[in-house]
Amino acid sequence: MCVFSCQALIRAVQGPPASSWLLKPLRLHSIFPQRKMSLDSGVSGMRASYRGRQDVFTEDDLAFKEPIGQFKEWFDEARNNPQILEANAMCLATSSKDGNPSARYVLLKGFGPDGFKFFTNYESRKGKELDENPKAALTFYWDVLRRSIRIEGKVSRLSEEESDDYFHSRPRESQIGACASNQSTPISGRDVLTSMEQELTAKYSDHVIPRPSHWGGYILIPHSVEFWQGQSTRLHDRIRFRLPKSSEKPDGRLLHQGDNGWVYERLAP
Ligand SMILES: Cc1cc2nc3c(=O)[nH]c(=O)nc-3n(C[C@H](O)[C@H](O)[C@H](O)COP(=O)(O)O)c2cc1C
Repeated sequence: MCVFSCQALIRAVQGPPASSWLLKPLRLHSIFPQRKMSLDSGVSGMRASYRGRQDVFTEDDLAFKEPIGQFKEWFDEARNNPQILEANAMCLATSSKDGNPSARYVLLKGFGPDGFKFFTNYESRKGKELDENPKAALTFYWDVLRRSIRIEGKVSRLSEEESDDYFHSRPRESQIGACASNQSTPISGRDVLTSMEQELTAKYSDHVIPRPSHWGGYILIPHSVEFWQGQSTRLHDRIRFRLPKSSEKPDGRLLHQGDNGWVYERLAP
């Protein structure tokens, strides 16, 4: 078998003397059919087994009838799960004024009734997009729990004091890192960062590192928070809290009255 394959391989590689280069890959494919190029590489067949039918998430399972308490309930479960390394990693989606979207991960650094906080460089791509369009969205996904939370709202900058406090609570290396990097601008190589890091480490060796004015926090004030729980049947559970329009009255069937001015509804998966 091996002898046959090796000879076939040599023939395919050498080919007839005057043959076109195009034939060679075709011959190799006929020897290694399993290597045939496939557009989806088996991805379409990936299907995780989620939860059993008894693990549905119903309206009665809501620990709170408002989204911040319910977020805390699910977030605490995620952060206390040893299989989840960074429960506070969330995808932040922003959009430019002319509607071009972009998304990246950031870390949640605080939350409460006033909103969801994260820190970054105000001059980064996301910072610039948030300057021109403060509408943004956050998505968490904890695959171990088969849960996702989607948050939409408006973003504003945290106060200078709050950004200072958080900046100085970080390890010194992270503070230097924030100063050393003009986030999202092209650089010629990694050495640009390391030499800047060395320079700043020497400069601030015995001093408090001042927070750069272009680095600080944001808070996303939500108007919509959706809790998604995956089911093996693909009949996933989705319960969305949102702030109602002024004319809207919950009918108790599709739209339910929640607490603290929120309403909630179930969405088809
Ligand atoms: C898990 C994870 C957490 C991250 N946390 C932050 C963060 O808190 N702040 C931040 O500025 N960048 C964070 N980053 C890097 C960003 O994803 C991104 O590369 C950077 O902010 C530049 O994004 P921008 O060019 O869209 O502004 C994180 C990346 C990952 C993968």
